[in-house]
Amino acid sequence: STYENILVEQRGAVTLVTLNRPQALNALNSAVLGELIDAFAAFQADDSQRCAVLTGSGEKAFAAGADIKEMVDKPSVDFFLDDHFSGWQSDLVSRTRKPWIAAVNGFALGGGCELAMMADFIIAADTAKFGQPEIKLGVAPGMGGSQRLTRAVGKAKAMDMCLTGRMMDAEEAERSGLVSRVVPLDGLMEEAMKAAEAIAGMPAMAAMVNKEMVDKAFETTLEQGLLLERRLFQILTATEDKVEGMKAFVEKREANWKGR
Ligand code: HXC
Repeated sequence: STYENILVEQRGAVTLVTLNRPQALNALNSAVLGELIDAFAAFQADDSQRCAVLTGSGEKAFAAGADIKEMVDKPSVDFFLDDHFSGWQSDLVSRTRKPWIAAVNGFALGGGCELAMMADFIIAADTAKFGQPEIKLGVAPGMGGSQRLTRAVGKAKAMDMCLTGRMMDAEEAERSGLVSRVVPLDGLMEEAMKAAEAIAGMPAMAAMVNKEMVDKAFETTLEQGLLLERRLFQILTATEDKVEGMKAFVEKREANWKGR
């Protein structure tokens, strides 16, 4: 299908999704959300696709936030009545079971930072800038920033960012644990695609289970998390890929994954 606000391209087993409103620094309006939900549903449903990369078009921005022009005249009660921003926490964006990476190529502000944090991990260009500047608009994060940023970087940095609205550069973001890798801007897509291809080459169930385990670390007690980890590990031992993976190691050959 064709989209107006995003580009979607399959490169082998990797789905590349590009936010494509460069004239508005890829600001996230409801049309973008609708198309992203659709694209992530297609990615999740397509067995040939094993990992996704989300990036922004242009060299300036990943996404400069929720679309302020869409919110400026919206009546207050409508934000409540239509549960504004709830779509971003839907199963199809922030809870896709397959792994996906955010490749942050510039500004990731407000909703842009929040969208990047929905990814399993972030690879940033050295030009990337992260921030939650909502306070300067008289509001606060609404797509997960106060929760995911705090979990990622801890209270001190999260409070600093949310209360001052300042931006964090890529170096500080890596040092703070917000991003996993920083690379020069012109090598960003190569690095992100290489990581995605490595993940896409892993046994598919193991990839989903590894993702689920790490995510649960933020939602359970240690004891519940350790139990879940053992149970999921035990379930993976029932897969054909476990048998194949361990056999291949012992026989010193490449594994031939079945994805089940
Ligand atoms: C709508 C946006 C936008 C946004 C940029 N643009 N950000 N449009 N929503 N969030 C548009 C500008 O209006 C402009 O369009 C074009 O993109 C280029 O932006 P400039 O400001 O001219 O670029 P520059 O001077 O380089 O500044 C870049 C910037 C700045 C520092 C990133 O654009 C900026 O501060 N943007 C807003 C960042 C922000 O506050 N994000 C949080 C949004 S609130 P025109 O047509 O005018 O030239 C949010 C959650 C809200 O995400 C939750 C509350 C309910």
